[in-house]
Amino acid sequence: MNSQTASPRRVENIQTDKGSVPVYATGIVEQPWDDYSATDHDTWARLFRPQREVLVGRACDEFLRAQDAMGLTPDAIPKFTELNRVLGDATGWQVIGVEGLLPELDFFDHLANRRFPVTWWIRKPEQIDYIAEPDLFHDLFGHVPLLMVPMFADYMAAYGRGGIKAHGIGAEALQHLTRLYWYTVEFGLIKQADGLRIYGSGIVSSKGESLYSLESPAPNRIAFDLQRIMRTRYRIDDYQKTYFVIDSFEQLIEATFPDFRPIYAELASQESIPAGEVLHTDTVLHAGTGEGWASDGDV
Ligand SMILES: [Fe+2]
Repeated sequence: MNSQTASPRRVENIQTDKGSVPVYATGIVEQPWDDYSATDHDTWARLFRPQREVLVGRACDEFLRAQDAMGLTPDAIPKFTELNRVLGDATGWQVIGVEGLLPELDFFDHLANRRFPVTWWIRKPEQIDYIAEPDLFHDLFGHVPLLMVPMFADYMAAYGRGGIKAHGIGAEALQHLTRLYWYTVEFGLIKQADGLRIYGSGIVSSKGESLYSLESPAPNRIAFDLQRIMRTRYRIDDYQKTYFVIDSFEQLIEATFPDFRPIYAELASQESIPAGEVLHTDTVLHAGTGEGWASDGDV
């Protein structure tokens, strides 16, 4: 075990409309667990402990129960092989190791086949508070637990199948579907009997956004509406201006039953909605004050 952090095999950066994006080897890699350094395990613990504390009473009960059922602890970076035994028994999902973000079609294909790609490397100690790209902590701590929940597990697989379809239809369909992923899987809130809770991975893996999404008066909190979400632009560089709230995971899976093709066709003639805008047709749970919002930068 070395004292440095284990690093991904990065190939190069490509310039896209979202800036410079790192491109990694796209193959599945076996998690090089023995290569994690003491620093890597310590980084996991330093991220895990405080974030889990923040999430008790803030993340939805299903998420917290799933983390416990998977045996996630701050003691060491989990072994994918051990997680996969529990996950496989629960919902048939598997975690696979990857070097980083995958091309869209590869990603969709994995999801459709109940394989969730997890970045095997963890951020460096100086990135504890912020890292721009997904690492092991975001992917594993944030995304994997809800794959234990049958209804959410089905939703993720349906999203993968939908992604393959949208990819074949065209860029606009894909953009509409990506917004659905963003506002549910990454940044979704859910109503529980005792109030609003978090289920989105982008929120649960960030202390700042866990507090902001639930407790700040600044962002809008609006009831889930599939087509409305598909039209809504979002933030990639800051907390969201709007969060969409589902009543249950059942609502999410029911929303994905219909064929999206006619929906994409209908949306094609409609303007996108700025990230912070509230419509008169919205069911508004909280109208944001907009405090601290940047005036541009929606994607
Ligand atoms: Fe993510």
